[in-house]
Amino acid sequence: MQSLNSTYTLHNGVTIPCVGFGTWQAQDGEQAETAVRVALEAGYRHIDTAAAYGNEESVGRAVRGSGIDRSEIFVTSKLRNPDHGYESTLAAFDLTMQRLGLDTLDLYLIHWPNPAPFRDNWQEANAATWKAFEELYEAGRISAIGISNFRPHHLDALLKTARIIPMVNQIRLCPGDTQDETVAASRKHNILLEAYSPLGTGKIFGVPLMQEMAAKYGKTVAQVSLRWSLQMGFLPLPKSTTPSRIKENAELFDFALSQEDMDRITGLKDCCGKASDPDKIPF
Ligand code: A2P
Repeated sequence: MQSLNSTYTLHNGVTIPCVGFGTWQAQDGEQAETAVRVALEAGYRHIDTAAAYGNEESVGRAVRGSGIDRSEIFVTSKLRNPDHGYESTLAAFDLTMQRLGLDTLDLYLIHWPNPAPFRDNWQEANAATWKAFEELYEAGRISAIGISNFRPHHLDALLKTARIIPMVNQIRLCPGDTQDETVAASRKHNILLEAYSPLGTGKIFGVPLMQEMAAKYGKTVAQVSLRWSLQMGFLPLPKSTTPSRIKENAELFDFALSQEDMDRITGLKDCCGKASDPDKIPF
C-alpha cells in the first residue's frame, strides 16, 4: 500500500481504497458534513457511514458537494437492526439511497447479525435480508455486499442459504482486540476484514508499548496503530472530527513496522476493551 488511493481487491474484483474514513458518532449536520469534506480534501476516497449513525444525509451532501467524481469515492452504508427481513431491507435500502442522494452504493453491509428484535429467529431474518442484498447487488444498485459484527457461527449460518459469499466483514479490530477466530473464518472465504474502532475508540493512546513505538518510529500512536492494521491486512476505518487528526491519520505510507514490532503489538492483550458480543447487544 503506497497511498490512500491504494486498494484491496474484493473477491468479486471490485477495488476498495485501503483506508476508510469512519463517521460513527459524527453528528448529523455541520459536524459530519465538515468532517467528510475535510477527509476528502485530505485525500481519503472511502467513506463509511450507516443508517444507524443518523448522518447519511450529511455524508451524502459532503460527497456530492466535493467536486470529486462520484466514481472516485467509495461509499459504504449499513442496514439498521430493525429493518432485517426481505421487504424491509429493500425499503430501507431505498431510504438510505434517498438520504445519501446517490444513484448507486459501493458497499452495503448487514450492520449486526443478531439484533434484539430478531433474537429468536436471527438465522431466518439474516437469510431473508441477504436475499434482498443479493438481488440489489445483481440489479447493479450496489457494487459489493457484506456483513458487520458477524462471528463464525453467524457466518456459517448465513452461508447455508447465501448464493453470494459476502465480500467484507467489518468488525472491531485494534491492538488487544484481534478477534482471531472471526478473522480466520472470514479469510477462509476470502472475505476482507474491515477494522472499525482501529484506535480502540481512543483507548490506544494510553498504551505504553504504543507510546514506545511512536517514539521509535517518529510517528504518532494513531499512525502506528493504523499502520499495524494495514500490515495485518485489515482495512482500518479511523474516525475523527478534528481536522488535524483526520490528516494525521492519513499519513501512514512513509514508514513500515518491523516484523518484530508487529509481533509485539499483536501480542498486546486487553488494552483497548473488547468488541460487544453480537448475541447480547440490547438493540
Ligand atoms: P475526535 O473525533 O474528537 O478527533 P476509533 O477510530 O478507534 O473509533 O477512535 C476514535 C476516537 O479517537 C475519537 O474519540 C477521536 O477523537 C480520537 N482520535 C482519532 N484520531 C486521533 C488522533 N490522531 N489523535 C488523537 N485522538 C484521535
